[in-house]
Amino acid sequence: MAAVEAALSPIAAQAARCTACVLAETRTNVVFGSGSARSGIVFIGEAPGANEDAQGLPFVGRSGQLLDRLLAETGIARSDVYICNVVKCRPPGNRDPRPEEAVTCAPFLRAQLETLKPRVLCALGLHATRWLLPGKEPMAKLRGRVLEYRAIPTIATYHPAAILRSPGLKANALADLKRARALADDIAAHESGGGRH
Ligand code: URA
Repeated sequence: MAAVEAALSPIAAQAARCTACVLAETRTNVVFGSGSARSGIVFIGEAPGANEDAQGLPFVGRSGQLLDRLLAETGIARSDVYICNVVKCRPPGNRDPRPEEAVTCAPFLRAQLETLKPRVLCALGLHATRWLLPGKEPMAKLRGRVLEYRAIPTIATYHPAAILRSPGLKANALADLKRARALADDIAAHESGGGRH
């Protein structure tokens, strides 16, 4: 097992037993996250939907299939990125996660990020973006620049579900993913040139 997976596994085990909010009563599986830190990019979505709840894996439904296509067009292998959500259990009926649910779940995402030490974060949608960077700006203002969460370069882009509803957003989302990849590649090149401590 890779070092990062080994370090994540006790946190995942703790999440699997979590009953700290009402979502525990209706979930089938805790959707902790999946993938690897190889590319240095961590994608953060909002919360699992029905397919994710059934399989225990993030982004495996229609939004996930679109994310897969966007990653492929960006030249990123899904197995090289880590994908997780702000909230680890499915809100019933796919309602938005409540603020108190995101607050209760936050230690899991914080622990994931501290363990994975991503080079770049990519927030999928406003919910994840606001978790990282509280504020009121709309996505149209947040995307297209490099933001920062705890000194980690952060790209905000449209949630795949929003792109499914408004396919015109796809070109910008693709540009955002390409920027995230270029940033991560640049940082990796500096690390290997300058030595990482
Ligand atoms: N939407 C999300 O935000 N996360 C998932 O895992 C699936 C759909």
